[in-house]
Amino acid sequence: MHLLQWLAVTVPVGLASASASAEAHPPPPHRPPPPHHGHHPPHAEFFNRPIFTPPQGTKASYPRAVELSDGTILATLSWSDPNTKLPYFPIFQSKDDGWTWEHISNLTDDVNGIGFGAQPALYELDFALGGYPEGTVLASGNSADNFSTNIDVYASLNKGRTWEFVSNVARGGRPNTTNGADPIWEPFFLPYGDTMGVFYSDQRDPLHGQKLAHQESTDLRNWGPVVNDVASLNYTNRPGMTTIAHIPTVDKWVFAYEFPPAAGGINWFGNEYPIYYKVANNPFDFRYADGTPLVGGESTGNGSPYVVWSPVPGGNGTLIVSDADNQELWTNEFVGRPDKWEKRWQPGKPAYSRALHVSRRDPDALFVFSGAMFDDEEDGPPVPFVVTKLSVRKLLDGWYDFFEDQ
Ligand SMILES: *[C@@H]1O[C@H](CO)[C@@H](O)[C@H](O)[C@H]1NC(C)=O
Ligand SMILES: *[C@@H]1O[C@H](CO)[C@@H](O)[C@H](O)[C@H]1NC(C)=O
Ligand SMILES: *[C@@H]1O[C@H](CO)[C@@H](O)[C@H](O)[C@H]1NC(C)=O
Ligand SMILES: *[C@@H]1O[C@H](CO)[C@@H](O)[C@H](O)[C@H]1NC(C)=O
Ligand SMILES: *[C@@H]1O[C@H](CO)[C@@H](O)[C@H](O)[C@H]1NC(C)=O
Repeated sequence: MHLLQWLAVTVPVGLASASASAEAHPPPPHRPPPPHHGHHPPHAEFFNRPIFTPPQGTKASYPRAVELSDGTILATLSWSDPNTKLPYFPIFQSKDDGWTWEHISNLTDDVNGIGFGAQPALYELDFALGGYPEGTVLASGNSADNFSTNIDVYASLNKGRTWEFVSNVARGGRPNTTNGADPIWEPFFLPYGDTMGVFYSDQRDPLHGQKLAHQESTDLRNWGPVVNDVASLNYTNRPGMTTIAHIPTVDKWVFAYEFPPAAGGINWFGNEYPIYYKVANNPFDFRYADGTPLVGGESTGNGSPYVVWSPVPGGNGTLIVSDADNQELWTNEFVGRPDKWEKRWQPGKPAYSRALHVSRRDPDALFVFSGAMFDDEEDGPPVPFVVTKLSVRKLLDGWYDFFEDQ
């Protein structure tokens, strides 16, 4: 997370065009129509379809999404409703593969009395845990005010229509990105076996200005000790913003993070928050793995990476990584081999902490969720929350390169 950006999450905006351009393309001939869509065949591709436009004077950023087992997509992001005293996460639902969206609920902080203002996370349980059945939707985020940061877990037994508090995972001090302060940030859900992991950024350890760590639970209520995932021996370094993807063909796990000021203080591309990643056999054991800079196309990303994996085009499939500042995505078809990253143009807008998602039913479909840029100001034109649906195969084939000229 960038310095000074805290609580800036509640303020927005500035990209010139408030009206996101939405373009639909007919399905390419090589794809059969996906099932379960009745008489509304899904659109194979679309670019920057609006989900929600925050009112003038507010900023919406840091999107997150989950595709439920029935194909419904839920999405949310950080935003402060100017009409309410405390912030909440607005939950949007799409029943047609991201083409149209309905605001179905608000995830509110029901225990701290301070709101849910930043850094949401969503997950659907694919196994029963702690009395919650398979199919329960989990949500987290940072419930924070001037005095504390709190990573809390909520559950929905009705696909995101209502929410109940489950437990607090961790608490930290007031938001402050200066080393020496003790807040926590940026939760991410990732289970392994029958155990849930909540990964987050942690400034509480006196040995590390900020580190990445996780806690595990087998009942969603009791959370085990803090286990480091990325903790630099150099106190100054601030690894941040965990996301994780699985490569099932080799059963490896990939952990992407930003790593300022970067190992050894070297910065080949002049960006403040270079992207690094680790590969491990088990997502709870990243502490044993080495970090590698993600370099491709004579550059690296800057800040807030998001990593996903698609089985397309076969072989070991494709790792796909987003960052905060570039419109392009980075792809790697070789299990993260460091010399095999490629920088690819695509039409989804650049945004702070953009979220990626590979469709569960159609692994060629890649969703890119974009909100405001980090530096967007709240007094600019509102920046809409938008979603783009791409073909991974076309991304790899360079089909989207023409967007570079637009
Ligand atoms: C979310 O909360 C706002 C502010 O209280 C309210 O106006 C809106 O109707 C709520 N939306 C839903 C779907 O609950
Ligand atoms: C939060 O703390 C800052 C720094 O101490 C202070 O300037 C600000 O007024 C406080 N805000 C609230 C809402 O208490
Ligand atoms: C932020 O943390 C640093 C380091 O502990 C401290 O010096 C500074 O006063 C804190 N700032 C605020 C506004 O609390
Ligand atoms: C720790 O990182 C800082 C920032 O990059 C650098 O200035 C310092 O030299 C590093 N310390 C060591 C012991 O490498
Ligand atoms: C997948 O990657 C592993 C590890 O690099 C390699 O041994 C294997 O040959 C690859 N499989 C395919 C189908 O490319």
